[in-house]
Amino acid sequence: MDAEKLMFKDGLMRGERILVTGGGTGLGKEMSEAFLKLGAEVIIAGRRGGVLQETADELMGRWGGTVIPAPCDIRSAEAISDMLDGVWAGGPLTGLVNNAAGNFISRTEDLSPRAFDAIANIVFRGSFYVTLDVGKRWITGGHKGSVINILTTWVWNGSPFTVPSAMSKSGLRAMAESLAVEWGRYGIRFNNIAPGPFPTKGAWERLSPGQSLEAGENSRTGNPMGRVGQMHELCNLAVLLLAPGAEYINGQTIAIDGASYQATGGNFSQLRAWDDAQWQAVRDMIKSSNEKDRAQRTT
Ligand code: HXC
Ligand code: NAP
Repeated sequence: MDAEKLMFKDGLMRGERILVTGGGTGLGKEMSEAFLKLGAEVIIAGRRGGVLQETADELMGRWGGTVIPAPCDIRSAEAISDMLDGVWAGGPLTGLVNNAAGNFISRTEDLSPRAFDAIANIVFRGSFYVTLDVGKRWITGGHKGSVINILTTWVWNGSPFTVPSAMSKSGLRAMAESLAVEWGRYGIRFNNIAPGPFPTKGAWERLSPGQSLEAGENSRTGNPMGRVGQMHELCNLAVLLLAPGAEYINGQTIAIDGASYQATGGNFSQLRAWDDAQWQAVRDMIKSSNEKDRAQRTT
């Protein structure tokens, strides 16, 4: 992220404590950096303790402040509760970013129930477990809070070849719209960000395997603005929704995709042209990325 392009004044988020799931990598890391730069204390959760520690060290080295690694597998409600006990020992959170996710492209007829669960247990169930536990603590303690879910534009039109993700993200949209109303009286608000393509290693290895991060040509040429998203753009939107000053925004889903969704559907419909050999090659590439990441997990 180009920190010079943050729209907000330093110190805006002083006194905020934000938990970012999946904060060790990709978009979660970028948003964590923005919150830290603007004065927040940031807690980053994920399964790879070493990755979290490296990110925390890198960001604190650059900006000072506090980034706390919180190794946790959000598929386990018990692990979340233990992690949040530790977080709350340092004070209540003021914000939560449900950003952690798993995904891969596949023909739906090639999925097993375990393959569906591999995605849904992280995105749909895991994000709910985190939200429920944090929400209960806020309500019991009489604290206000702001929650952002990082979704996709597929919540409006589905996405062929990433059906478990499209279903799970749509469920989170329903969660946010429901709880924005139910918990509004506690001062707990919910909004969703639906990013278009923002190239990250995690997403590209599983959704565009074999295509270099720098190239990302499909995203670029199909986009009305002729480019992919820039990290500071996403960070500015996340800050707007979490920082004090715009609290009346509640229950919304905001796309940040250069109008890709309106122009092309913003999903994987073009993969209808692939043949068996292409799907097998892609599956092999995804498997190898998954194995590398699995070897680094500590929770
Ligand atoms: C079909 C597949 C498959 C594939 C795995 N499976 N890959 N099926 N096609 N390509 C099946 C396996 O055969 C197995 O089922 C089941 O899925 C579980 O596989 P595991 O490898 O054991 O899964 P696991 O180790 O739990 O890994 C979970 C994961 C992994 C989701 C698959 O990639 C992960 O943890 N990812 C986290 C990071 C990530 O995905 N980031 C990208 C987010 S990007 P069987 O029945 O054979 O046992 C994103 C972007 C959206 O969401 C928008 C972009 C525009
Ligand atoms: P990423 O770097 O792979 O991020 C996913 C993160 O989730 C990783 O840090 C991963 O860490 C964490 N995670 C996965 N399973 C977890 C679990 N069970 N418990 C705790 N943490 C877990 O990919 P990304 O592109 O930045 O994606 C971030 C978010 O943006 C996702 O919600 C994605 O759907 C969304 N998004 C991305 C794009 C894009 O173009 N990049 C577009 C639209 C939406 P561990 O593996 O260490 O657990």
